[in-house]
Amino acid sequence: MNGPPAHRAGAVVDGTGEDRATVLRGVGAAYDTRSAEYVALFGRLDQHPAADRTLVSRWRDATPGRLLDAGCGPGTWVELLAAGDRQVVGVDLSAAFLAVGRRRRPATPFLQGSLTALPLGAGTIGGVLAWYSVIHTPPDALPTLLAELGRVLRPAGSLLLGFVDGEPGQSFPHAVVTAYSWSVDALVPLLAEAGLEVVEHHQRHDPGHRPGGALVARRPA
Ligand SMILES: C[S@@+](CC[C@H](N)C(=O)[O-])C[C@H]1O[C@@H](n2cnc3c(N)ncnc32)[C@H](O)[C@@H]1O
Repeated sequence: MNGPPAHRAGAVVDGTGEDRATVLRGVGAAYDTRSAEYVALFGRLDQHPAADRTLVSRWRDATPGRLLDAGCGPGTWVELLAAGDRQVVGVDLSAAFLAVGRRRRPATPFLQGSLTALPLGAGTIGGVLAWYSVIHTPPDALPTLLAELGRVLRPAGSLLLGFVDGEPGQSFPHAVVTAYSWSVDALVPLLAEAGLEVVEHHQRHDPGHRPGGALVARRPA
């Protein structure tokens, strides 16, 4: 099993190579340039499928402790995670998205950082929501990212991962920046390497939308 990467508070990249750092900087910059457009199209919860809202709400209610919205974008899902006075922290690469999140919820910490080197301590998070935020991660960097999500989860903590369902590691054109599809079958062993066990999974193939996958994975107690 791979060990978790060293924690460096506030680091934006994991230092495993200039190529990867450049890709990640590019993802944040690409979302910065299109943030207004994205917020107009996807910035409200009612612009997302009801089934997704139900799934995330159910997961939130079953997941005690502080919640991390990993790749929070403009904080759309932070709104839902925080319902009932839950403690939530958002992390994203995009400064423009973080500014929107902070305007919307001044009391919620929105931190700039990469999911490959989270600015959070080990075992400090009860649940991680990574909702379509690993889709831009080059396949060879995904194990590092998943190990990092596992590192911040406390024992018995839970990960809810939303992804584009398809050929594992296959790139596809995305309006903002190159993205990759995954499948539950391909993610199960990668998550196991990160110390996480898949306990639930879902697929959504709606006409006119990219096929969606979601899974819940747990860190052992
Ligand atoms: C498709 S958007 C989803 C945003 C949000 N989760 C939502 O569902 O509205 C992908 C988001 O993930 C962020 N992201 C992608 N890779 C990231 C990484 N390595 N570290 C931090 N954020 C990342 C992007 O900046 C962007 O905000």
